[in-house]
Parts: sequence; C-alpha cells; structure tokens
Amino acid sequence: MTVIPNLTDLRPTPDDILGDVLTGLAQSPKRLPSKYFYDRRGSALFELITRQPEYYLTRTELGLLKASADQIADAVGPQAHVVEYGSGSGKKTRLLLNAFKDPVAYTPIEISHSALAETVRKIDRRFGSLEVLPVCADFTKPVPLPRPARKADHALIFFPGSTLGNFDADEAISILRAMGQTMGSRGGALIGIDLQKPRSIVEPAYNDKKGATACFTLNLLVRLNRELDSNFDLDRFAHHAIYVEEHSRIQTFLISQREQEVEVAGRAFRFAAGELMQVEYSHKYTDAFFSALAAEAGLRVAHRWNDPNNWFGLRLLRRIEHA
Ligand code: TRP
Repeated sequence: MTVIPNLTDLRPTPDDILGDVLTGLAQSPKRLPSKYFYDRRGSALFELITRQPEYYLTRTELGLLKASADQIADAVGPQAHVVEYGSGSGKKTRLLLNAFKDPVAYTPIEISHSALAETVRKIDRRFGSLEVLPVCADFTKPVPLPRPARKADHALIFFPGSTLGNFDADEAISILRAMGQTMGSRGGALIGIDLQKPRSIVEPAYNDKKGATACFTLNLLVRLNRELDSNFDLDRFAHHAIYVEEHSRIQTFLISQREQEVEVAGRAFRFAAGELMQVEYSHKYTDAFFSALAAEAGLRVAHRWNDPNNWFGLRLLRRIEHA
C-alpha cells in the first residue's frame, strides 16, 4: 500500500463485492452494483468516455467552470478549505483552485486508498504551497475534516461530474444531508448536475459510436470474473443504455444475448434471452427537482450557473439556517 502524506484514514468499511453481487443477482430484475465500475481499467475507460464527441457532460462542465470561475470564486469567498468528493482527472479541481482567492487547504475524500494515492500524487506537483490533507473515508456519511495549519474561513465541498445523479433520490438526499454536516454552518457545496434535455442528445452520450461506454459497462463483468469466482461470458452480454423519460434518467443495463447460466462463487444464476440486468442510473435534473432534493436535505441553492445551452449546471448549496 502506498504511503499517503498527511493522510487521515477513517477506515471506511471495506467493500463486500461478493456479498453485493450475490444480493443483486438474487433480485428481480437482477442488478449489479455500479460502484465497482472504477477499477484501474474502468477508470481509464471512463477517461476515454469523457473524450468521446457524444459525451457532452465533461467538456460542457469544464467550459462552464472556466467561464464562471471568477463568479464562483466571488460567491465562495477567500480562504476556503476545498474538499473534493471522489476523484477525476484533476482538471476541474485545478481550475477552481486557480480561481479561488487564497485557498487554505485541499482535501480529497476517497473510499479507495489507491485512488486517493493517485489523486494526491497528481495534485501535489501543481500546488506546492497549498496544504493537502487527504481523507480516506466514505463520503455518503458525514466526514470530520482535518484542521489545516492555517485557519480556513469555511469549507467548500466540490462534487462535479453529475455523480450525484448516479444515485437514486433517497440516496442522493442522504448524501446531501451528510454533506451539510461535513461543510459546517459557514460552508458550501458546489455540485455539477446534468440537466434535462432531449433524448436525441442524452441517449447518444451513453451509446458512443466507438463503443467506449460499451467497453466500460462490460468491464464490470471482467472485474467480477477476476475478483470473484465467476464465469460471465463477455460475448453473451451486451451494453444497453436508454433514456427513460418518466424518471428523467439514463438506465444502463447489461442484456443477456441468449438463454444462459452463470456461476458466481458456486451458485448458479439463470438468464433468459434478452433479460436485462440493471447496472446504473444517470439522472437528468430540472431546477425544481434538484432544489427539492436539496431542501429535503436541509440545503438551499444559493447560486446557479448553466452553460449557454442549459445542458449542464453548477449549483452552490448552503445550509438552510433555522432561527
Ligand atoms: N457520472 C457519469 C454519468 O452519469 C458516469 C457514466 C458515464 C456512466 N457513462 C456511463 C455510468 C455509462 C454508467 C454507464 O454520466
């Protein structure tokens, strides 16, 4: 295990990949937990997705961050302790840290020790003077923040990529509620959300022509075969992503190409020809729906920024203060 300088290790409960997979496969319809997408190859494939012409999300959010950086910095205020949930390529974080006035510290929060080590390695080279205080923890629960050497004015949580949309409404509310605790009474949270738009734009983003997304989805089975005693045949499952208007979300499935049986840890699971196995949601928000989610969690939208097409949004959330 790589040693991470200044690490606060809150020892998050280790993943129970076998238990999660067996539980999901026992359900009807069958499900596979999407949190296992991001192994080394999965993370590389996701980077590839973000560069596909159909996948508008990443470049739209980056453009929006660039265009709004000064306004965001003004709204956030000086001497922030910047806290990031999860980790991406680091590009978005760099943009923010460059725009903020006198940021005091940067805390990436990651449940995976190796992903955290990688994030820290990348950020350290660019911001020599910024205090980097990584935390290994599960951000779906409140996280007590490490105290920077120089006092911060407030915490600013950054949660980009519309990752919140990968959770169902109940989970999203619980994450936002925990976020309210983590940010503290003076803090804020900057959240990237993908907005509702026509199917003709959304659906191709999850069905790119090159097949990067299909590889990404199927890589879940590659990982299970490697880490569990399972025998998913990759030629007998296919990626299938559709926009379900009723729920304003992309639903990503693995579809069984024929009748078959798969073994996982000595247990047999039957698949019918054409059977859909649910793997991921990607919710597309309206302003009203997102504000309502936030309100359920005791948060309000203090500022909003959209790209010129209203495809993607950034929202600055603050706590609703009770008199
Ligand atoms: N947060 C990303 C999104 O919802 C994750 C993602 C992109 C994804 N492409 C995917 C998840 C395909 C599952 C399948 O857009």
